[in-house]
Parts: sequence; structure tokens; C-alpha cells
Amino acid sequence: METRFYFRTFHLIAIMVLITAFFGGCTKKSDLRKAAEKQGILIGTAVDTRALEDEKYYKTLVQNFNVVTAENVMKWETIHPRRDVYDFTEGDKLLAFAKKHGMKMRGHTLVWHNQNPNWLLSQPWKADELYKVLEEHIKTVVTHYKGEIYAWDVVNEALDVDGYRETLWYLYLGPDYIEKAFRWAHEADPDALLYYNDYSNGEINDKSNYMYNMLKDLQADGVPVHGVGLQMHLSLEFGFDFESLYMNVNRLHELGLHVDYTEIDVRIKTPASDSDYREQAMRYKKMMEIMLAFDNSYAYTVWGVSDAHSWVPGAFRGTGDALLFDKEIEPKQAYHMLVETLEKGAVELNYSKNYEDKFRSRKAIPPFRAHAVASAPKIDGNPNDKAWEKGVTYPFNYNQLNLYDQRIPDNNDLWGEWTVVYKGNTIYGIIRRHDEKTRTDHKLDYENDNIEVFFHLGDVFAQLRSRVGHDWESHAYDGERKIAWNKEGTVCEYSVTLPIDDLTGMISGWNISLSDNDGKENRDHQLYPINGQNDGWQGKNLGTMQYVGDSPRVPEDPRVVMPFVAAPASAEPSLDGTFSDDEWIDAVKYQFAYNQLNPKKQSIGLNNRAISGSWGIVRKENYLYGFVLRNDAETVTSNADPALNDNVTIYLEIEDGNAVVMRTVVGKDWEESGLNGEHQAKWSDDGSVLEFRIELPSNVASRKMIGFNIALSDNDGGDKLDYKLYPITGDDKSQEAKGLAELELQL
Ligand code: XIL
Repeated sequence: METRFYFRTFHLIAIMVLITAFFGGCTKKSDLRKAAEKQGILIGTAVDTRALEDEKYYKTLVQNFNVVTAENVMKWETIHPRRDVYDFTEGDKLLAFAKKHGMKMRGHTLVWHNQNPNWLLSQPWKADELYKVLEEHIKTVVTHYKGEIYAWDVVNEALDVDGYRETLWYLYLGPDYIEKAFRWAHEADPDALLYYNDYSNGEINDKSNYMYNMLKDLQADGVPVHGVGLQMHLSLEFGFDFESLYMNVNRLHELGLHVDYTEIDVRIKTPASDSDYREQAMRYKKMMEIMLAFDNSYAYTVWGVSDAHSWVPGAFRGTGDALLFDKEIEPKQAYHMLVETLEKGAVELNYSKNYEDKFRSRKAIPPFRAHAVASAPKIDGNPNDKAWEKGVTYPFNYNQLNLYDQRIPDNNDLWGEWTVVYKGNTIYGIIRRHDEKTRTDHKLDYENDNIEVFFHLGDVFAQLRSRVGHDWESHAYDGERKIAWNKEGTVCEYSVTLPIDDLTGMISGWNISLSDNDGKENRDHQLYPINGQNDGWQGKNLGTMQYVGDSPRVPEDPRVVMPFVAAPASAEPSLDGTFSDDEWIDAVKYQFAYNQLNPKKQSIGLNNRAISGSWGIVRKENYLYGFVLRNDAETVTSNADPALNDNVTIYLEIEDGNAVVMRTVVGKDWEESGLNGEHQAKWSDDGSVLEFRIELPSNVASRKMIGFNIALSDNDGGDKLDYKLYPITGDDKSQEAKGLAELELQL
């Protein structure tokens, strides 16, 4: 008996020694993993299963991390390659690996619009049938991994900047697929934690606000959603507000949700400098500090083990170096700083939790949209190609040469509109211009009548210029490009080819301008589609362009454009319905630029005199004072529904996600709006001038930014509005506090 006992023990020890020897240092935990485990943090990484063959990769992975996510192999295209075939081979391999090394596994992902198999994409679906497919997929996959996968990214990237993303799922099923997906996953494995996962949702912004409300609604309907994944694909090219992250995490916790960082990387424009690496390390650290500050937040996953295995250089050209280990799989500054942060544990953070008062979201202006065309338009100055019909037409309506008066000239001597479509990696555009006087003989190219296109994607920034009637200038961009003007100089067609494979799904920085010189030393106007201060040529304050299509890639974060400004008033304007420049000297003057009633033609068109207008707002103490100048061929105010009369409407986001709607029909005072305080609207007798004031609640008046919009509605006699002009592009959803611009309340 005794001998047998000894014999067994001896065997056991021998086996253990052998195992340890076999895996060498493998099972020895690194400082990172040790420190994380001490703090109760799950430290994870996405795993490229092919790279497991690499010994150093394998070892680094095992030593440093205690959770894995399949980077690709559990997505539909791999796991469900044909309608009746599931292939769990690679997923199972990763699971076995994880178990062997005492790691947990996160499931990624059950519903997404990318990396789907062709059979799913190519079918026109009936809703019931697609629901069956989705239910079967979720239940089959979750059941297969029941009890093994501790958390699932159930729905991935279902939101856009300002609402539901138009994915395959949304287009066939509407928003209900989200709730169903969670319920089915929960049925299949009631113990698994279920997450909603997305990008650009870390800070408080339009998207995270929308997500917050969606999650709240799902909870109210009893949907089993347990957490949020913040992907956190950050870029040093863009700022990141950690206080905003902190507030956002806090409010999500208040809903009782877990908050995980699921796909962290911090990309750098390559080649990276020492200060880049330092800044990168700081970002990794700050994210961890915020995670340590909250109980319900403990899973910190980086999107890849090393820079040699990162998706970043492929997806965001010209950037890289985004992870904790370099291309040789050696630890970087960010790694060491993360270890330090974890060893220290939770520290006191000086962030405010109260985003309501302290921090206002910056509004992401809806991007311009370029639609894909099947065949490219011919660049010959003759705009007859069918392809152009696919494009959205936008106006040039802001003169950025004058910071204080951005309006187009009101004598109508300069006006223009533009349309963009794309095919593959080439942008095709058309510009129409109306100008009383064309000048092209100035010795400085840019002082002539010309058009310019500004483009920013990854490391490509291009500014192209063409004088009316001339080719592109040579210096501006050395990629492939074409341009052709018609004889009169009223139309040009152009194309620009980018050094990438396909623009589909991308968002680029974008601007376009129309310059006009009527004979003086300097240009009179340079009109753009967005307000700003003419620094687009430095790559700054560009608008955004979205290349619409079913996206194989993840777009960059949407950018934000310059807010409209309510400057402080030196004197209180009198509200008498008469406008003078002196009285409104402090107001920046803007155009009513975009007809949001027509998604395809947001410009009202060249030489259309039906309606136009401008506006400006100043602030004095708790009051906003404003004017509207309105040119309307025909004033209609006889409709029973005031919304259908000629009117001015202002939208103010007094509470997050909620707009107060203030309307004044031409000739009348403000209607009841529910906003407390004083407000007056005073029109001139002929309806061409409105002067108004609105008292802001004191907590709003103390803010720097407020979500805002202003619209000029025009009915020319029918039973609906003909035009509703806003200062920004969009689809007339301001009423729902969607697609708002922002107003900076200057002191
Ligand atoms: C990426 C992978 O890292 C790449 O290898 C693949 O080619 C494309 O997908 N958001 C997600 C992840 O949810 O699944 C994506 O992963 C990155 C963005």
C-alpha cells in the first residue's frame, strides 16, 4: 500500500517535471499577467490562430494574457461557410489552447456586417427566412461553446454616428434583430455574459449617446444584455478625451452594465518617434487607470499580441506600431507602463463624473456621402453620364475667406454645387458653377477662379487645384487624376485615384471649394460646403466623406467640424424687425445651406430663387439673440398646421438626447415650446427679417457647447413644405435631437 503510494507520487512528480520542462518558460507568468491577476483584471488579446505556430508568439501569449478572443476564426465567414455547414475547427483549437493555459475565452462575434460568407450576402432574403438563419446560427454556435466561452460579443457595430447602421441585418430585419440576437444567445447559454460591442463609443459623443439610449431601452424591454464592449481602436492622429471616457463608463455602470475594453490598439503614424511611443504608453495607462477605478469593468483586451500581427497597417494606411509588443515581439514602453499601472492598482483620478454639466458632446456632423457606381463616368466636361444620378448634390455655401461673414454673396453672382460618386479606389466628381465674371490670369494660381479638392485618408493628404478651364496643377497630388471643363467654364468633371484597393466603407477627410476673383488683387470668395476658417489646405478641419457600401473595412472615427459660434454681444440688439450691420456686428453670419428634405439633392440648385437665407446668433448673459434674413418668392402662412407654414425653427439640446423645438411662423411670435423663460420673435412686415431672443436655462448658459440647429422652412402653396434649409447636411431629424450641429456659447 505504502509502496504503491510512493510509486504513484513519484510518477506524478516525474510527469509534472516533464511537463514543465516541455513547455520551458511557457507557463511562467509575466509581470503583466501577474499584476493583472492580482488586481482581478482579465488581460486579453485577440489571437491570430495561424501565428500560434510561432514559438515566440506562443510563449508571449501564454505568459502575458489570461483571456483570448479569436481575431477572425469565429466570424461567420469561417465558422459558417455554407448555409448548412458549420466549421468549428479553428475556434475549437483556440479554445483547447486557452484551456490548456488556464485562460478564459471571449466569443467574437455573433452578428456583424463584415466578414460574412457569400451565401449570406448574395441572397435577397425574406425577413422570416433571415431570422431563421440568424437564430439557428446564434443557437448553434453558442450551444457548441456552452460553458466554455464566458462572454460573447453578441452584436457588433450595429450603430452609425446618428442611428442604426444600415447593415444587411438592419435592412432586412429592422432594429429588432438586436434584441432577438441577445435573447437567442441567452437561451443557448444562460450563464454566458452577453455584450454589445462597437467602436467610437468610448467618449461621450453622438454615437455613444445613441448607444446608451439603445442599451437602456433594451434593458427596459427585459433583453438579457450584460455589458458593453468599447473597442478602443485609438489613433494618435486624433485626440482622445479620457475624462469623457471616464464619464461614459460611469454612466454605463449606472445602468448596471459591465464595461470591457475589447479591442484596444493605439495606432501611430509611421515611422513613430520617441514622443509617439510615450504618448501611446500614456494612453494604454489611462485606459487601465479608468478600468481600475470601477468594479464592474475588468476585462482589458488588446487587439493582437504584437505589431507583427496587427490589423492596423492593413486597415489604416500609413499607421502602425499600435500594440504592446513590437514586430520582434519585444515589449514596448506601453507594456512597461501598463505593468507599472497594474502594480500600483487603483489610484485617485481627478475626472468628473458629471458629464451633464461639465462636458458636452462634440457633434459629429453627418458625413457627405459618395455612392458607388457600376460604371465610371467619362471625364470629358460633358455631364451626361448616368452615373452622376447616383450621387448626392451638395451646395457650396460658406465663404471661409471671411471668418465673420461666411455667407455666399447675396447678389447671386457666385454660386455652385457639387456631386461625388466613386468606383473602387477612384472618386468621380462634378462641379457646377455660376459666376458672373471669370478670371484666370492672376499669376498666383490660388487667387484665380478655381476649384479645389481636399482629401485625407491614412497618410494620404491631397489638395488638388484647377483653374477654371485648366488642368489640375502639377504640384498638388502625384496620384492619378483627371479633370475636364466645358467650354463655358460652368461645369467640370474630375477624378482622383487613391493608392488603396477600395474606398468602400471608408470615411475620409474631405473638402471642396470654389474660388472667385472678380478682378482684385485677392480672391473675393472661397466657398466651401462647411463653415470654417480656410485651414483645409493644412489638412485641418476637413469635413468627412463616407463611401457608402457594404463595408469590408471599418471606417475611421468620424470627425467633427467647427461649431457655429454665438459670440458675446457688446450691446443688446433691439428686437424691432429691422436689421442693420452695426446692430449685429458681433454675430458671425452663416448661410441656410442644405435642403434636408431632399436626401439626393441637398443643394437647392443654381439660380433657384425659391428660397434662400442667412442667420446669426450672439449671446448676452443667459440670452441668445439672433437674426434671420430671408428671401422668399412667395410667403405662405395660411396653413392650419404651423409646421407647414413658412417659418424658422430652432432646436436646442437642453438635455442630452432631447431637443426643445422653438418655432416662429413668419409674422408671428414663438409658439409654445415647453422652454421656460422669456423669448420673443419679431418679424419685419414683409417677412424678410426676423429678430429674436431666447432665454437659456442657467445650467445651459454656463456650458460651452450646446447641441443646436436652425431651419428655414418654405412652403410655396402646396400641402407640404418645399424646402427646409439648415446650416448643415442631414435628413431633417433635428426634432429627435439627431444630426444636430453645435453652437459654441462664447463668453
Ligand atoms: C479585424 C481583424 O483584426 C482583421 O484581421 C480582419 O481582416 C478584419 O477584422 N472591429 C472588430 C474586429 O470588431 O473584428 C475587427 O477585426 C477590427 C474592428
